[in-house]
Amino acid sequence: MKILVVGGAGYIGSHMVLHLLEKDHEVIVLDDLSYGHRDNVAQAAHFIKGSIADQALLDRLFQQHQIDAVMHFAAFIQVGESVSHPDKYYRNNVVNTLTLLDAMRRGGVMYFIFSSTAAVYGNPEYTPIDLQHPKLPINPYGRSKWMVEQILQDYDQAYGLKSICLRYFNAAGFDAKGRLGEHDDPKTHLIPLDMRAASGRCQDIKVFGRDYDTPDGTCVRDYIHVTDLCEAHVLALDSLCRENTSDQFNLGNGQGFSVQEVIDVARQVTGKPISVTDAPRRAGDPAYLIADASKARQILGWQPQFTSLESIIKTSWAAERAYTRL
Ligand SMILES: NC(=O)c1ccc[n+]([C@@H]2O[C@H](COP(=O)([O-])OP(=O)(O)OC[C@H]3O[C@@H](n4cnc5c(N)ncnc54)[C@H](O)[C@@H]3O)[C@@H](O)[C@H]2O)c1
Repeated sequence: MKILVVGGAGYIGSHMVLHLLEKDHEVIVLDDLSYGHRDNVAQAAHFIKGSIADQALLDRLFQQHQIDAVMHFAAFIQVGESVSHPDKYYRNNVVNTLTLLDAMRRGGVMYFIFSSTAAVYGNPEYTPIDLQHPKLPINPYGRSKWMVEQILQDYDQAYGLKSICLRYFNAAGFDAKGRLGEHDDPKTHLIPLDMRAASGRCQDIKVFGRDYDTPDGTCVRDYIHVTDLCEAHVLALDSLCRENTSDQFNLGNGQGFSVQEVIDVARQVTGKPISVTDAPRRAGDPAYLIADASKARQILGWQPQFTSLESIIKTSWAAERAYTRL
């Protein structure tokens, strides 16, 4: 198939491009490099620098290339920034996605895989979180993703545009063959920050709250390796083309690891001390965020390979060492 990967120069998108090429798909990448990096994009993919906000560019792209499906990773992703700058998030994540969807319709491309997030659920009312859990996002980032999911339901009904929404929990790790590397991007996720503390790129990491109702008092999260995520996208695309039916799936390990466990395993894998500062709880951080991803396993036949924390962190440490030349 010929697949357009928008946001394909970013962290997850660039892994997706490698994965699709390995499965013998033809890949076109559209990325405005607002956060991504050109050197993340595999040579065998056709790269176009540009934004999904550019309607004329999208129309040309869909006219010139016979695209079979679009995978959409292009979004702003920082929860805290979405609270202080909601305009930036609604414009890029919602308005620009609409521009993309309408260009797809004009170009006759009717298959769409969407990177959604566990943030659409908001504060968990129970755990693990299944697909029926209420969708009550608590920040503009989560709301922007939920808005797109609802738009996609309406676009299916009205225009027959078929989509699969994949709600990721915490994506982590790097390509195990070391083909993609770290960069100097703003980071808010725990594992990359641990790696930076281990390599000396940052001094220490903060643990926000040790008084949660969890075994060691720190928050518990579900980490899913980026290569396992990519495999789920390939399976989702196969299913979309076979069944011609829109659907949604959670993507997570189904297993939670506490912040303290992540730090302990990071210390063990890196052999570095990793200093930690305790800080008060952050607003909106639930004690547990764990996925019920059983539907992806049952319907898509998805089987994550990197299920241990150690296997995920090893690939992150290799990427950090390559970047810092440690
Ligand atoms: N990283 C996670 O843990 C996680 C969890 C849940 C969901 N997601 C979703 O996965 C997707 C990818 O996340 P990521 O971690 O790879 O982020 P990222 O910032 O590394 O990648 C996003 C890419 O999109 C590009 N981009 C942004 N706006 C664009 C536009 N208007 N036109 C063209 N390109 C544009 C950026 O330059 C960047 O390369 C996002 O939609 C995010 O919401 C990520």
